[in-house]
Parts: sequence; structure tokens; C-alpha cells
Amino acid sequence: MGSSALLTVVLAGVFLWISVIRAEGLDDPQGEKLLCTCENDKGTCSNGMCRGDYCFYTWVHGREERGCFTKDHFREQCSGSFKGLFTHCCTETKCNAFVTPPPNINGELMTTTSPEFPQPSLWIAVSLLLSFTAVSVCSFVLLMRFRRTAGKLRDPEDRGAMIKVPNGDDPTYGDIFDEFCTSGSGTGLPYLVQRTMARQISLVECVGKGRYGEVWRGTWMGESVAVKIFSSRDEQSWFRETEIYNTVQLCHENILGFIASDMTSKNSSTQLWLVTHFHELGSLYDFLQYSSLEPEGCLRMCLSVACGLVHLHTEIVSAQEKPAIAHRDLKSRNILVKRNGQCCIADLGLAVIHSQSHDYLDVGNNPRVGTKRYMAPEVLDETIRLDTFESYKQTDIWALGLVFWEIARRTNVNGIVEEYRPPFFDLVPIDPSFEEMKKVVCVDQQRPSLHNRLHSHPILSTLVKLMKECWYQNPTARLTALRVKKTLSKLDTESDFSMDKLKRHI
Ligand code: ADE
Repeated sequence: MGSSALLTVVLAGVFLWISVIRAEGLDDPQGEKLLCTCENDKGTCSNGMCRGDYCFYTWVHGREERGCFTKDHFREQCSGSFKGLFTHCCTETKCNAFVTPPPNINGELMTTTSPEFPQPSLWIAVSLLLSFTAVSVCSFVLLMRFRRTAGKLRDPEDRGAMIKVPNGDDPTYGDIFDEFCTSGSGTGLPYLVQRTMARQISLVECVGKGRYGEVWRGTWMGESVAVKIFSSRDEQSWFRETEIYNTVQLCHENILGFIASDMTSKNSSTQLWLVTHFHELGSLYDFLQYSSLEPEGCLRMCLSVACGLVHLHTEIVSAQEKPAIAHRDLKSRNILVKRNGQCCIADLGLAVIHSQSHDYLDVGNNPRVGTKRYMAPEVLDETIRLDTFESYKQTDIWALGLVFWEIARRTNVNGIVEEYRPPFFDLVPIDPSFEEMKKVVCVDQQRPSLHNRLHSHPILSTLVKLMKECWYQNPTARLTALRVKKTLSKLDTESDFSMDKLKRHI
């Protein structure tokens, strides 16, 4: 091919490429993106307009939001099937301006709308491109490049999604999550719905503050929700927790219920929110400061934490697939107390994920480490095998034993209850260093002391035995979460049985 012919071919290819991109409506003369309608002048929205790769419209219980987002965020946010929510995404200039929810949004049954089919202009352009391939290999290469790019931008999920609304009632977030956990993927609401819900929250009071950031009680549709606002230095924890809740089926009564994650920019700084169920009794740490327990209450709490940990640690290979997860920062501050006397485990910001069936171990890339006071000996002396998932579960078990010890101290046996103290309170100072913990746990091999009264009660004496088996220096000798759960479940059944017998006697 002569050089002028080659030049003609290249110029024609470029011309064709440009015309195809224009036909797609993605042209961008000022180096900017698709123009969309938006509200609130929040984030990138200015004078009711924003630019992105997609325009969206969401309807959540009568509240509408319009805006735009980039293709990096296009996942399942425009699909899904759940109560009282409608999402629509599109790729034409201001195409979200006049979208309204379907008339039957408050009706009985809603079906998913058909996907939007690509525009005819695209097909014309593609045909042109295909014929051009016959003329020149160069433009064929260009054509292939274009098709790859266009394929990435145009997603088959580009559609509205609708759902069932029960008799026009306003479902609570509990309803939404029950439906999602039982019939949906159980891996979090679509991204846009999360974002819309998060932005409908009013923050009411700060209920916790720490290095991680703050926890607020907020309200959404009149109900309390917890909003964890991550400090900017702990953004990796937000990413990890968001990733886990959105990809792993984690609906369990002893794992903190997830509602939404949201990232916003405010005065040029990024705000990271994690919205979860709110538990008014607060963390187990807070609860134990002012409450004591009876042995049955102690058992209920310990069993519930063990159940939560078994759910995390267990890989499920059936249809409701779930990888195994190790927590890596289990402690009383990361456990919440529910009104029914059970607990749920929170804070998955440091968790590691493992799947034997899919053959992967994902340790994340969070620079944060666990809480020193709760670190297992092998973490403190750095002999832990970081490439083996079992090792991480074994460190959780060490910490589980310490949590049981904190609960047991606050349990009334023979009229005696001890004051709340954190583990190793008598051996290390407040905010102990790594070296101080190492000396106590690895060199001196000390363990938390256990009050004599605990040996005189069947529940507490079993709990003491379990604690000791969670604290073996050798991590492989420790109990598994499943073994702890089974032992406590048996104790629970036995104590129910003896209570029944006692009642029948009276
Ligand atoms: N503190 C931390 N997380 C909380 C939650 N989900 N509910 C209540 N208090 C909390």
C-alpha cells in the first residue's frame, strides 16, 4: 500500500471513528461528558446540571433523585427487583429530566422493564464500519478498537428496574432487607439506591467517636439508622467493608445489618459513610459498663457472638454461595447488643476473604492492624502464617475467648459480679504498645484471671473451659468457632430443659 493511500485510509478511519462516537451521543467537544439533570447542587451537581457517563433517576418511597455517574460505578445499580424502589439509567443528553416512576409503582406487582435497545444510529455506524473493513486493514484495526470501547460504555443492564409494592404501604428498611436477604442476591441494594437512601438520612446525634471516625444515629423515613463516618485516614476500611457487604451474602441475625455505603465530596474533602441497622443499646463494651447479666443472659450473648463468627468463618458452596471471612479485629467495641439480648458483629474493615472452591485468599490492602490488646500470641511474635486462611480464623478465636471473659466478669454468680475491665487490664497500661502486649502474652504467657465463683455454675464453668481452649499458645490447638457454638448450643438446650423442669415442679 502506497503512503498516500495509507494516509487516506487512516484519515477515513479516524473520520469514521469520530462519526460513530458522535452517533452514539458521547461526543464531548470540550473534553467533558454527558450532560444530565441533577438536584440539590450537591457533589458535582451545579445549577441543576452535572456531567458523567450515565444519567440516572431514582425513586425511593416517593423521593426522587436525578444525577450522573461515571462508568467506573456502573455495576448493578440500574437493575434489581425489590419493594418500593425504581431506578433508571440512560445515556442521552438530559435523558433523566422527565423520567417518572411507572404508574403502578404503588400497585401490586411490578415487573422489570425491558432494556433500552441501542440507538439505530449505532447500527448504521457499525454497518459502515463493517463495510469499511473490506477496504482497509488499518481501519479494521481502528474499528475493532472502537467496538471494544463502545462495548464497555454500553451496558446491557442499561434499563429501568421495578418491583412489587405491598398495597401501597411504605416498607421499612427492615422490609427491604428481609426481601433482599430472602429473594435477592443478599449482597446489598443497587449502588444508586444505596446512594439515594444515604442522602435521605438526617443525622440526629453522635453516639461514638474514635480513631476510626464517628458513629451517628440518623433517621431514614422516620426510623433510626446508624451512620459510621470514616476518618479520611481509615478510608481503606470503608472500601473493604463496602466491598464485603456488597459482594458477600451476609444477612445473618448476628452480623450487623448493612443498609448503604456512600461517598460524597464536601468542601473538596471526601466523606465516607456506612449506613447500618441501629442498635440503641450500643456496643457490648458500652453495655457491659453499666449492665450485669444472669448466667442465662451471658450464655445467650456468648452463643450469639459464636453464631455470628461461625457464619463469617464458614464458606457456603450452594446456590447462596458465600466465601469464608475472618474478622481480624474482634473485640467488645466491635460487637453490638440487640434488644433481644443477642449480639451482632460489626466492622468488617480489616476482614480477609477466602474461598477454597474458587481457590483464593484475599487479604485486602488495609494498612490498619487489629487492636493490640486483643492480638493473639502469633500476631505479637510475628510467627503467624499470613498466607494461610486458617491462621486468621485462629486469631479470631483468641479474641473470642477474651470477649467471653469480658462478659463472664459481668455475670452474677452467687451474688458476685466484677467490675467491667478490658482484657489484661492488670498487666498492661491503657493503650498498650505492641512490645508490652508481646511481653505479657508471648514471653510470660499470661492469661486473663478467672474468678472462683465462675467454677460453681454449670454455664460459667463450661464457658471458662471454652475460654481456656481459645487461648492455647499453639493456634492450631484452639477450638473452632463451630465447636464453641455447638458446646454453647448444647448448654442452652440443657438450661432450657432444666428451667422447664423447675417450672413444672413449682
Ligand atoms: N455504635 C456503633 N455502631 C452502632 C450501631 N449500629 N448502632 C448503635 N450504636 C452503634
